[in-house]
Amino acid sequence: MQAVILVGGFGTRLRPLTFTTPKPLLPIANVRQLEHLIASLGSAGVTRAVLALGFKPEPFFQAFPDGSCAGVELHYAVEPEPLDTAGAIGFAARDAGIDSTFIVMNGDILSDVDLSALVAFHRSKGAEGTLHLTPVDDPSQYGVVETDGEGWVRRFVEKPQPGETDSRVINAGTYVLEPSVLDRMPPMQRLSIERAVFPAMVADGRLAAMATDDYWIDTGRPDTYLKANLDLIDGTRSLILSSVGPNAHVAATASVTRSVIGEGARVEGGSVLVDSVVLPGAQVGPAVRLERSLVMGTVGEGASLVDCVVGADGVVPARAQLVAAKVPDPATMG
Ligand code: GTP
Repeated sequence: MQAVILVGGFGTRLRPLTFTTPKPLLPIANVRQLEHLIASLGSAGVTRAVLALGFKPEPFFQAFPDGSCAGVELHYAVEPEPLDTAGAIGFAARDAGIDSTFIVMNGDILSDVDLSALVAFHRSKGAEGTLHLTPVDDPSQYGVVETDGEGWVRRFVEKPQPGETDSRVINAGTYVLEPSVLDRMPPMQRLSIERAVFPAMVADGRLAAMATDDYWIDTGRPDTYLKANLDLIDGTRSLILSSVGPNAHVAATASVTRSVIGEGARVEGGSVLVDSVVLPGAQVGPAVRLERSLVMGTVGEGASLVDCVVGADGVVPARAQLVAAKVPDPATMG
């Protein structure tokens, strides 16, 4: 089976980290997010993953120079212009010659859903498409999905007001699709799968959905990207990964609590890290305090950062005291 992974977005909400590294190539507990996704696809029998690329394709070519990842063959489909989700899926699937049932994944989710079970459910329904759904505590910020008792989607309710729907499940960003869905995606047309294609399939009674309460997280925001990292080192998930990457230097007098240190990063003596991620290549100077922060650049001696994001080009001066800051500030950049 083949899978299309959507990896062509701008990753605006994760700036400044995504100024230099596309979101799917950012590590989650020292493994690139895309590798987590492709490994889960491989375990479900996917042999070829089609990367629907647009913005910044080159880092993807460099990341996987032999054209494979986690034992899965890669195919790169590079859009000439951003085509939105449905346009991108149509472009990538045609580019790769997909002509049988396939899986689609958003490149910015992590989940423990059993993909083989999702495919089996899709086939048992004889659906044209099947969504994976996940429950949320507060659905008011999401597109909520209503299903009937038999697993068919009845309605989408975007950002519901209190009382508008009883449903608490949202589109989890993984789909199983029949190739006939491509007929609903005119070539080279900018189109959203969530807003245009799925509602049309619901109108035809052809869209099924399977809800599970497996671990699921959308890593697209700084707070959720941080949580996705910490969940993989603190035992929240069944998989526990190492919190310190290869060739990282952590001084013996640094105190590191529930934090990830990326490949080749340096954390100098007397620094205190709590619930933070120091990304590959970052430099954390002596006596720095990091709390709930993401650092890709350089933090000077004695600085204190709480809820901050420092991009690869970011330099925090010595003894700076920052709260909820982005360095450099994306608002002041093009
Ligand atoms: P933000 O800019 O922070 O909203 O992130 P994003 O650009 O990734 O957008 P969003 O999270 O809504 O996108 C969902 C998924 O679709 C992500 O995996 C994106 O990489 C991908 N995506 C969004 N738009 C496009 C597009 O035009 N082309 C391609 N190939 N992928 C896209």
